[in-house]
Amino acid sequence: MEEMKAREEINSLREDLNKYNHEYYVLDQPSVSDAIYDQKLHQLKELETAFPHLITADSPTQRVGGEPLDSFNKVQHQVPMLSLSNAFNENDLRDFDRRVKDGLGVEEVTYVCELKIDGLAVSLRYENGVFTQGATRGDGTTGEDITSNLRTIKSIPLRINETETIEVRGEAFMPQRSFLALNEAKEENGEEPFANPRNAAAGSLRQLDPKIAAKRNLDIFLYAVGQWESGALTAHSERLEHLSNLGFKTNPEWEKCATIDDVIAYVNGWVTKRSDLSYEIDGIVIKVDQLVYQEQLGATAKSPRWAIAYKFPAEEAITKLYDIELSVGRTGVVTPTAVLEPVKVAGTTVQRASLHNEDLIREKDIRINDTVVIKKAGDIIPEVVRVVTEEREGTEQPYHMPSQCPACDSELVRLDEEVALRCINPNCPAQLKEGLIHFVSRNAMNIDGLGEKVIEQLFEANLVKSIADIYQLKREQLLPLERMGEKSVDNLLQAIDVSKSNSLEKLLFGLGIRYVGSKAAKTLAMHFETMNNLKAATYEDLIAVNEIGDKMADSIVQYFSEEEVQQLVDQLKDLELNMSYLGQKPKVEEIADSPFYDKTIVLTGKMEELTRPEAKERIESLGGKVTGSVSKKTSLVIAGEEAGSKLDKANELGITVWDEQQLIDALNEMEK
Ligand code: IVH
Repeated sequence: MEEMKAREEINSLREDLNKYNHEYYVLDQPSVSDAIYDQKLHQLKELETAFPHLITADSPTQRVGGEPLDSFNKVQHQVPMLSLSNAFNENDLRDFDRRVKDGLGVEEVTYVCELKIDGLAVSLRYENGVFTQGATRGDGTTGEDITSNLRTIKSIPLRINETETIEVRGEAFMPQRSFLALNEAKEENGEEPFANPRNAAAGSLRQLDPKIAAKRNLDIFLYAVGQWESGALTAHSERLEHLSNLGFKTNPEWEKCATIDDVIAYVNGWVTKRSDLSYEIDGIVIKVDQLVYQEQLGATAKSPRWAIAYKFPAEEAITKLYDIELSVGRTGVVTPTAVLEPVKVAGTTVQRASLHNEDLIREKDIRINDTVVIKKAGDIIPEVVRVVTEEREGTEQPYHMPSQCPACDSELVRLDEEVALRCINPNCPAQLKEGLIHFVSRNAMNIDGLGEKVIEQLFEANLVKSIADIYQLKREQLLPLERMGEKSVDNLLQAIDVSKSNSLEKLLFGLGIRYVGSKAAKTLAMHFETMNNLKAATYEDLIAVNEIGDKMADSIVQYFSEEEVQQLVDQLKDLELNMSYLGQKPKVEEIADSPFYDKTIVLTGKMEELTRPEAKERIESLGGKVTGSVSKKTSLVIAGEEAGSKLDKANELGITVWDEQQLIDALNEMEK
């Protein structure tokens, strides 16, 4: 392709991708499917590989890049990043209101109340519209340059529509779902979990390798402007709106309050509503809205006088720890869990709390029958904070982890540097069961009606011991089981059957290959396209794929080298499970009668209505393959205006030629 054309297409793809990105990550209102997004990103990557000098730092393909750093550079903040003084109750808020009004000599001030996001403060610098530097707060004067990690946060625009240098500030954080998933994976890998989402976010942004931060699903809300020479706005609320108009993600829950009573009502409202949020907040920030007032009030060495942070009280409760139970995860990690006398914390009743590992039990000296203080870590996972030793009566029993697996009795081991104990028996029933539960789960094969309970039931009834057994279940075997009526059995068998045509990534993720999460599974499926290709891939083939690191590559090679795995894959093939990546393509039956199905198509010349990537995408989704040059293998040539040598060659070889309109008509007909 000529460079000019490539440049045009690259720009158009980038524009589309930036728009989709903003819709998805900032506005939470996607307008296209993931498949279309992935496809465009893939096309852009291909074009950039063909024309590497057209790659720019703000291209959507360049979020995760560069080699791991040795250390972070220091960044001097042009405008200091102050912190906030705290308020803990209504009185503190009224005192603040008084100080503000006395300081200004006025009787009316407008406040803006915002959620206090529990993450870490960062600053983002844009020069000529391009994100050039991101830094931590550090001591407020000097922070660390964490640009490459911040670039991986998809809600941070790499380009904005503002040519003047502008520095904006906000809170980077880890949403609760990502936090839970990360800790779960950490525990499964025998690593120490993060205590709360804030530590997890900070730990992720402090990684020297941006590939790690990229996997952590961090997010950000912007709430302030640092350096901005000609910022002509007069109120903080206007700045928030401006930030949002520039494409930044701002938190939508802020409100203007005309009186301190309104502020207090806002604060009290969030004490209960906070548990509905998908991210953690630790208070409310109250800011004077008028910027002239902010300037007049100024700041102390540490914090501005025009703002205050109301901190929610930590929610803790005291209860009795009755017992410690063990569970064996999918990868054999044995996790102790405290069984508690039910108690209410932060709005829900808690009766179990993970104790993570033996070290933690020892460190906190937790004994059976102890009275303990519990809280919800990041208000999500209940956690034992400490033992109330004053309540001990002498009957409390120290706890020792057993040396044998509670499920299969094999000797437990502690692998290098891991804090966790593991059962390494590949046939351990608890691991097998957890593996099956994972296999049928939503992000994996997503088999409706086959949840944890039913798997347990089938497992106990000896009907399902391995993944392949799921696909051999018979109606007669299921009917006698409890809670299995005719209808539910039929539905279940139908759902199992439907799952056979899942795209490869679902199966790959479901197999539970160590370190292969659902995102990596998708990357692998897209790249290798079939299970056979992936099975045959070498370590080198694997690490050559973007986003696949050496740990994962090793694990995949190791996995497929095992005889049992090979047998399982063959068995699943015989049971007619799909082993290919289907992408966003419709089902084969639906596209088999498309004029593009299994055809090799060449696009040439200028198109009026369709863009080249769009035409390619639509043809491919109908089963066609779009290639660059005309040969005997070409089945169809689409010739736009001023088509040149490719059209000549097509005529020479007697290949069918369509114009753009014929293409459009055929596409529309099929897509009806
Ligand atoms: S404004 C000079 N707004 O809270 C004012 N801070 O305890 C700068 N934080 O360092 C901060 N959410 O990391 C502001 N909506 C919000 C915030 C917020 C969280 C953090 C920020 C700050 C700390 C102060």
